[in-house]
Amino acid sequence: MASLTKRLPTNVCGNFFVDSTCINCDTCRQLAPASFVENGEFSSIYHQPGGVRELHQAYQALLACPVGSIGTVVPDKAQRQTAASSFPVQLEAEIFYNGYNSGKSFGANSYFICHPEGNWLVDSPRYQRRLVDVFEQKGGVKYLFLTHEDDVADAGRYAKYFGATRIIHRADLAAMPDAEWVVEGRGVLKAAPGFRIIPVPGHTAGSMALLYKDRYLFTGDHMAWDRGAGGLRLATRYVWSEEALQRSTASLLTYSFEWILPGHGDRIHLPAPRMKDELRRVLERRPARSSERRAAQGQVG
Ligand SMILES: [Fe+2]
Repeated sequence: MASLTKRLPTNVCGNFFVDSTCINCDTCRQLAPASFVENGEFSSIYHQPGGVRELHQAYQALLACPVGSIGTVVPDKAQRQTAASSFPVQLEAEIFYNGYNSGKSFGANSYFICHPEGNWLVDSPRYQRRLVDVFEQKGGVKYLFLTHEDDVADAGRYAKYFGATRIIHRADLAAMPDAEWVVEGRGVLKAAPGFRIIPVPGHTAGSMALLYKDRYLFTGDHMAWDRGAGGLRLATRYVWSEEALQRSTASLLTYSFEWILPGHGDRIHLPAPRMKDELRRVLERRPARSSERRAAQGQVG
Protein backbone atom coordinates (compact mmCIF):
# COMPACT_ATOMS: atom_id res chain seq x y z
CA MET A 1 0.00 0.00 0.00
CA ALA A 2 1.37 3.36 -1.04
CA SER A 3 2.44 5.76 1.68
CA LEU A 4 2.00 9.52 1.63
CA THR A 5 5.17 9.86 3.68
CA LYS A 6 7.05 8.31 0.74
CA ARG A 7 5.28 10.39 -1.90
CA LEU A 8 7.71 11.29 -4.68
CA PRO A 9 8.22 15.05 -5.16
CA THR A 10 7.96 14.54 -8.91
CA ASN A 11 4.18 13.96 -8.67
CA VAL A 12 1.98 16.91 -9.56
CA CYS A 13 -0.28 18.02 -6.69
CA GLY A 14 -3.58 16.22 -6.31
CA ASN A 15 -5.25 13.01 -5.25
CA PHE A 16 -3.14 10.37 -7.00
CA PHE A 17 0.53 9.88 -6.22
CA VAL A 18 3.38 7.41 -6.68
CA ASP A 19 5.67 6.67 -3.77
CA SER A 20 9.35 5.82 -3.61
CA THR A 21 8.76 2.05 -3.56
CA CYS A 22 8.09 2.25 -7.32
CA ILE A 23 10.26 -0.17 -9.36
CA ASN A 24 9.72 1.68 -12.66
CA CYS A 25 8.25 -1.36 -14.39
CA ASP A 26 6.02 0.63 -16.79
CA THR A 27 2.74 -1.08 -15.85
CA CYS A 28 1.03 2.17 -14.82
CA ARG A 29 2.28 4.04 -17.87
CA GLN A 30 0.86 1.38 -20.14
CA LEU A 31 -2.52 1.39 -18.43
CA ALA A 32 -2.92 5.12 -17.79
CA PRO A 33 -0.62 7.04 -20.14
CA ALA A 34 -2.65 10.23 -19.63
CA SER A 35 -1.60 10.38 -15.96
CA PHE A 36 1.69 8.53 -15.45
CA VAL A 37 5.10 9.29 -16.87
CA GLU A 38 8.63 8.01 -16.36
CA ASN A 39 10.60 10.45 -14.29
CA GLY A 40 14.17 9.43 -13.58
CA GLU A 41 14.16 6.04 -11.90
CA PHE A 42 10.46 6.12 -11.06
CA SER A 43 7.02 6.67 -12.47
CA SER A 44 5.10 9.70 -11.30
CA ILE A 45 1.85 11.54 -11.89
CA TYR A 46 2.24 14.33 -14.45
CA HIS A 47 -1.48 14.91 -14.89
CA GLN A 48 -4.12 14.18 -12.26
CA PRO A 49 -6.81 11.99 -13.83
CA GLY A 50 -10.02 13.81 -14.61
CA GLY A 51 -13.19 12.42 -16.11
CA VAL A 52 -14.48 8.88 -16.03
CA ARG A 53 -12.03 7.34 -18.52
CA GLU A 54 -8.87 8.76 -16.97
CA LEU A 55 -10.02 7.91 -13.46
CA HIS A 56 -10.82 4.36 -14.50
CA GLN A 57 -7.39 3.95 -16.07
CA ALA A 58 -5.64 5.44 -13.05
CA TYR A 59 -7.43 3.02 -10.72
CA GLN A 60 -6.57 0.14 -13.05
CA ALA A 61 -2.92 1.23 -12.76
CA LEU A 62 -3.22 1.47 -8.99
CA LEU A 63 -4.53 -2.11 -8.81
CA ALA A 64 -2.15 -3.57 -11.39
CA CYS A 65 0.95 -1.97 -9.85
CA PRO A 66 3.04 -4.97 -8.76
CA VAL A 67 4.45 -3.26 -5.68
CA GLY A 68 1.53 -1.14 -4.48
CA SER A 69 3.33 2.14 -5.08
CA ILE A 70 0.32 4.08 -6.30
CA GLY A 71 -2.00 5.71 -3.81
CA THR A 72 -4.76 8.25 -3.42
CA VAL A 73 -5.17 10.83 -0.69
CA VAL A 74 -8.93 10.33 -0.77
CA PRO A 75 -9.92 6.92 -2.11
CA ASP A 76 -12.96 6.44 -4.32
CA LYS A 77 -14.21 2.99 -3.41
CA ALA A 78 -16.75 2.82 -6.23
CA GLN A 79 -14.18 3.69 -8.90
CA ARG A 80 -11.71 1.27 -7.39
CA GLN A 81 -14.29 -1.51 -7.43
CA THR A 82 -15.21 -0.75 -11.04
CA ALA A 83 -11.55 -0.93 -12.00
CA ALA A 84 -11.10 -4.21 -10.10
CA SER A 85 -14.06 -5.67 -11.96
CA SER A 86 -12.47 -4.75 -15.29
CA PHE A 87 -9.72 -7.36 -14.88
CA PRO A 88 -8.98 -9.37 -16.86
CA VAL A 89 -9.30 -6.78 -19.64
CA GLN A 90 -10.50 -8.11 -22.97
CA LEU A 91 -8.08 -7.03 -25.69
CA GLU A 92 -9.78 -8.73 -28.58
CA ALA A 93 -12.15 -11.67 -28.90
CA GLU A 94 -10.83 -14.43 -26.59
CA ILE A 95 -7.63 -12.61 -25.60
CA PHE A 96 -7.34 -10.94 -22.20
CA TYR A 97 -4.70 -8.95 -20.31
CA ASN A 98 -4.90 -10.10 -16.68
CA GLY A 99 -3.74 -7.04 -14.77
CA TYR A 100 -2.54 -7.61 -11.20
CA ASN A 101 1.08 -7.72 -12.37
CA SER A 102 3.44 -9.43 -9.97
CA GLY A 103 6.50 -8.00 -8.29
CA LYS A 104 8.05 -11.46 -8.57
CA SER A 105 8.27 -10.97 -12.34
CA PHE A 106 9.23 -7.28 -12.10
CA GLY A 107 5.70 -6.40 -13.12
CA ALA A 108 5.48 -8.47 -16.29
CA ASN A 109 2.19 -8.55 -18.16
CA SER A 110 0.35 -11.85 -18.33
CA TYR A 111 -2.50 -12.96 -20.55
CA PHE A 112 -5.45 -15.34 -20.68
CA ILE A 113 -6.68 -17.11 -23.80
CA CYS A 114 -10.21 -18.43 -23.61
CA HIS A 115 -10.50 -21.56 -25.76
CA PRO A 116 -13.25 -24.19 -26.04
CA GLU A 117 -10.72 -27.02 -25.73
CA GLY A 118 -9.02 -25.56 -22.69
CA ASN A 119 -7.91 -22.11 -21.61
CA TRP A 120 -4.33 -20.90 -21.58
CA LEU A 121 -2.58 -18.63 -19.15
CA VAL A 122 0.51 -16.97 -20.62
CA ASP A 123 2.90 -16.19 -17.77
CA SER A 124 1.56 -15.50 -14.34
CA PRO A 125 -0.12 -12.57 -12.68
CA ARG A 126 -0.20 -12.13 -8.92
CA TYR A 127 -2.31 -14.82 -7.28
CA GLN A 128 -5.55 -12.89 -6.92
CA ARG A 129 -8.94 -14.21 -5.89
CA ARG A 130 -10.67 -12.00 -8.45
CA LEU A 131 -8.68 -13.59 -11.29
CA VAL A 132 -9.11 -17.10 -9.93
CA ASP A 133 -12.88 -16.60 -9.90
CA VAL A 134 -12.99 -15.25 -13.45
CA PHE A 135 -10.74 -17.99 -14.79
CA GLU A 136 -12.96 -20.52 -13.06
CA GLN A 137 -16.09 -19.00 -14.56
CA LYS A 138 -14.47 -19.26 -17.97
CA GLY A 139 -13.62 -22.93 -17.51
CA GLY A 140 -10.35 -22.90 -15.58
CA VAL A 141 -6.79 -23.06 -16.88
CA LYS A 142 -5.62 -26.08 -18.90
CA TYR A 143 -2.17 -24.86 -19.92
CA LEU A 144 0.13 -22.40 -18.24
CA PHE A 145 2.67 -21.26 -20.80
CA LEU A 146 5.84 -19.78 -19.35
CA THR A 147 7.66 -17.61 -21.86
CA HIS A 148 10.88 -17.70 -19.85
CA GLU A 149 12.41 -18.00 -16.44
CA ASP A 150 11.80 -14.39 -15.29
CA ASP A 151 8.01 -14.33 -15.48
CA VAL A 152 6.99 -17.42 -13.51
CA ALA A 153 5.62 -15.38 -10.53
CA ASP A 154 2.70 -17.33 -9.01
CA ALA A 155 2.45 -19.94 -11.77
CA GLY A 156 2.86 -22.74 -9.25
CA ARG A 157 -0.19 -21.62 -7.26
CA TYR A 158 -2.38 -21.17 -10.32
CA ALA A 159 -1.27 -24.54 -11.72
CA LYS A 160 -2.02 -26.28 -8.45
CA TYR A 161 -5.46 -24.70 -8.12
CA PHE A 162 -6.52 -25.48 -11.68
CA GLY A 163 -4.51 -28.65 -12.27
CA ALA A 164 -2.89 -26.87 -15.20
CA THR A 165 -0.02 -28.19 -17.29
CA ARG A 166 2.92 -25.83 -16.97
CA ILE A 167 5.02 -25.48 -20.10
CA ILE A 168 8.59 -24.22 -19.92
CA HIS A 169 11.77 -24.70 -21.93
CA ARG A 170 14.46 -27.05 -20.66
CA ALA A 171 17.02 -24.25 -20.65
CA ASP A 172 14.91 -22.17 -18.22
CA LEU A 173 13.63 -25.13 -16.20
CA ALA A 174 15.39 -24.05 -13.01
CA ALA A 175 12.64 -21.44 -12.56
CA MET A 176 9.90 -24.11 -12.51
CA PRO A 177 11.63 -27.47 -12.03
CA ASP A 178 8.41 -29.43 -11.49
CA ALA A 179 6.76 -28.20 -14.70
CA GLU A 180 4.66 -30.88 -16.35
CA TRP A 181 5.73 -30.16 -19.97
CA VAL A 182 9.36 -29.41 -20.72
CA VAL A 183 10.11 -28.16 -24.23
CA GLU A 184 13.41 -29.34 -25.70
CA GLY A 185 15.61 -27.84 -28.40
CA ARG A 186 14.74 -25.19 -30.96
CA GLY A 187 12.08 -26.93 -33.02
CA VAL A 188 8.59 -25.43 -33.35
CA LEU A 189 5.83 -27.43 -31.67
CA LYS A 190 2.17 -27.63 -32.56
CA ALA A 191 0.97 -27.70 -28.98
CA ALA A 192 -2.77 -27.80 -29.69
CA PRO A 193 -4.93 -26.86 -32.68
CA GLY A 194 -4.14 -23.21 -33.41
CA PHE A 195 -1.25 -23.02 -30.92
CA ARG A 196 2.40 -23.11 -31.88
CA ILE A 197 5.29 -22.93 -29.46
CA ILE A 198 8.30 -21.21 -31.01
CA PRO A 199 11.58 -21.27 -29.09
CA VAL A 200 13.16 -17.82 -29.36
CA PRO A 201 16.43 -18.01 -27.39
CA GLY A 202 18.20 -14.70 -26.96
CA HIS A 203 16.89 -12.83 -23.93
CA THR A 204 17.33 -16.09 -22.05
CA ALA A 205 18.46 -19.47 -23.33
CA GLY A 206 14.96 -20.88 -22.86
CA SER A 207 12.79 -18.00 -24.09
CA MET A 208 9.74 -19.11 -26.05
CA ALA A 209 6.96 -17.37 -27.96
CA LEU A 210 3.41 -18.65 -28.33
CA LEU A 211 1.68 -18.09 -31.66
CA TYR A 212 -2.07 -18.44 -31.58
CA LYS A 213 -4.30 -18.52 -34.66
CA ASP A 214 -1.51 -16.97 -36.75
CA ARG A 215 -2.69 -13.69 -35.29
CA TYR A 216 -1.44 -13.32 -31.71
CA LEU A 217 2.23 -13.67 -30.80
CA PHE A 218 2.97 -13.78 -27.07
CA THR A 219 6.62 -12.85 -26.80
CA GLY A 220 7.57 -12.66 -23.12
CA ASP A 221 10.66 -10.47 -23.03
CA HIS A 222 11.90 -11.44 -26.47
CA MET A 223 10.31 -8.49 -28.25
CA ALA A 224 7.95 -5.61 -27.55
CA TRP A 225 6.73 -2.37 -29.03
CA ASP A 226 8.54 0.79 -27.99
CA ARG A 227 5.96 3.59 -27.98
CA GLY A 228 8.67 6.21 -27.57
CA ALA A 229 10.67 5.09 -30.58
CA GLY A 230 7.61 4.00 -32.57
CA GLY A 231 9.05 0.60 -33.45
CA LEU A 232 9.80 -2.87 -32.18
CA ARG A 233 12.60 -3.47 -29.76
CA LEU A 234 14.34 -6.65 -28.77
CA ALA A 235 15.18 -7.57 -25.21
CA THR A 236 17.73 -5.04 -24.11
CA ARG A 237 18.02 -5.16 -20.37
CA TYR A 238 19.48 -8.59 -20.45
CA VAL A 239 20.73 -10.49 -23.45
CA TRP A 240 21.91 -14.04 -23.02
CA SER A 241 23.03 -14.25 -26.63
CA GLU A 242 22.85 -11.45 -29.21
CA GLU A 243 23.44 -13.93 -31.98
CA ALA A 244 20.59 -16.17 -30.84
CA LEU A 245 18.36 -13.13 -30.29
CA GLN A 246 18.78 -12.02 -33.88
CA ARG A 247 18.43 -15.53 -35.28
CA SER A 248 15.23 -16.06 -33.27
CA THR A 249 13.82 -12.75 -34.46
CA ALA A 250 14.64 -13.54 -38.07
CA SER A 251 12.89 -16.90 -37.71
CA LEU A 252 9.67 -15.08 -36.84
CA LEU A 253 9.60 -13.65 -40.37
CA THR A 254 8.38 -17.12 -41.39
CA TYR A 255 5.09 -16.51 -39.61
CA SER A 256 2.18 -14.20 -40.05
CA PHE A 257 0.76 -12.37 -37.04
CA GLU A 258 -0.88 -9.08 -36.20
CA TRP A 259 -0.44 -8.77 -32.48
CA ILE A 260 2.63 -8.76 -30.27
CA LEU A 261 1.75 -9.31 -26.63
CA PRO A 262 4.89 -9.01 -24.49
CA GLY A 263 5.77 -9.42 -20.84
CA HIS A 264 7.56 -6.11 -20.56
CA GLY A 265 7.00 -3.32 -23.01
CA ASP A 266 4.00 -2.29 -25.05
CA ARG A 267 1.54 -4.42 -26.92
CA ILE A 268 1.02 -3.64 -30.58
CA HIS A 269 -1.58 -4.51 -33.19
CA LEU A 270 -0.59 -3.94 -36.81
CA PRO A 271 -1.58 -5.41 -40.16
CA ALA A 272 0.51 -8.52 -40.83
CA PRO A 273 2.55 -7.03 -43.72
CA ARG A 274 3.41 -3.97 -41.61
CA MET A 275 4.42 -6.26 -38.74
CA LYS A 276 6.87 -8.01 -41.07
CA ASP A 277 8.31 -4.65 -42.09
CA GLU A 278 8.78 -3.75 -38.44
CA LEU A 279 10.52 -7.08 -37.82
CA ARG A 280 12.93 -6.43 -40.68
CA ARG A 281 13.50 -2.90 -39.40
CA VAL A 282 14.38 -3.99 -35.87
CA LEU A 283 16.86 -6.51 -37.26
CA GLU A 284 18.47 -3.86 -39.44
CA ARG A 285 18.93 -1.64 -36.41
CA ARG A 286 20.73 -4.30 -34.37
CA PRO A 287 24.49 -4.30 -34.25
CA ALA A 288 26.36 -6.82 -36.37
CA ARG A 289 26.13 -10.26 -34.87
CA SER A 290 28.78 -10.80 -32.29
CA SER A 291 29.85 -13.56 -30.04
CA GLU A 292 27.61 -14.30 -27.11
CA ARG A 293 27.48 -11.57 -24.56
CA ARG A 294 25.73 -10.63 -21.41
CA ALA A 295 24.70 -7.04 -21.07
CA ALA A 296 22.50 -4.79 -19.06
CA GLN A 297 21.49 -1.95 -21.32
CA GLY A 298 17.89 -0.91 -21.10
CA GLN A 299 14.31 -1.51 -20.07
CA VAL A 300 12.94 -4.83 -21.22
CA GLY A 301 13.40 -7.11 -18.20
FE1 LIG B 1 12.87 -11.40 -18.73
